[in-house]
Amino acid sequence: MLIYCLALLVLQAVVTNGQLATVYTSCTKPNVVALTFDDGPYIYEQGIATLLKNNGIKATFFINGNNWECVYDDAMVTALQTAYADGHEFGSHTWHHYDLTTLPWDGTGGIHDEMWRTELALQRILGVSPALMRPPYGNYNDEVRSAAYLRNQSLILWDFDDGDSTGASVAAQQAAYTNVANAHPNNILALNHETYATTLNNILPFAITTLRNKGYTFVTVSQCLGINPYQWTAAPQTRTSDWNCDI
Ligand SMILES: *[C@@H]1O[C@H](CO)[C@@H](O)[C@H](O)[C@H]1NC(C)=O
Ligand SMILES: [Zn+2]
Repeated sequence: MLIYCLALLVLQAVVTNGQLATVYTSCTKPNVVALTFDDGPYIYEQGIATLLKNNGIKATFFINGNNWECVYDDAMVTALQTAYADGHEFGSHTWHHYDLTTLPWDGTGGIHDEMWRTELALQRILGVSPALMRPPYGNYNDEVRSAAYLRNQSLILWDFDDGDSTGASVAAQQAAYTNVANAHPNNILALNHETYATTLNNILPFAITTLRNKGYTFVTVSQCLGINPYQWTAAPQTRTSDWNCDI
């Protein structure tokens, strides 16, 4: 019995053993805003990327494989490649947008499968292996952190949410940006979603003006933390029949 208990303790120690991915909730550099856009790719990605580019801003997109759209859809591939060429950064938001804390460790629909499929899509479409992962709903536990650690990734949360995905009105989202700009924290790691027309048309232009007027500059997540966005980069791959959300 004693040996059994010791074995369990050792097993637990091996699983957790400090081998947990780093979790970042805020930026570290002063006077910067990292705008992030979750849940794409979707039909507004190109517009958002272009609006940012026209304002000299680079931002970060945490993408799913099969959420609002299939990442391998022709239009989505074009949007992703265009935004990447414009200097925007891409991290994983995992495949189906499942709550990772409810999933088994491995197997189809497990934590690693949800992570791997999106990593593969980013490798194929952009030629990047993401080092940054945002867990859907911001939900994670030690198992999720352990999986991310084994996949050489950090978890990226946020410290400001404009409320676009939780039903806040345009006025309320703009007020949220006004309030955070007035509070003037050292830096801002802002959660937005690329899946709403209002985020593109009403919120983003307002946020850019409001935050710029307070002296912030806009950077990607890797820049605001001083870390690598990617484990490696290569040339994008050529589409094959495997670029398919149904398999
Ligand atoms: C892990 O990721 C970092 C970037 O965060 C990269 O520099 C390093 O080469 C990666 N290590 C492995 C073994 O892939
Ligand atoms: Zn999400």
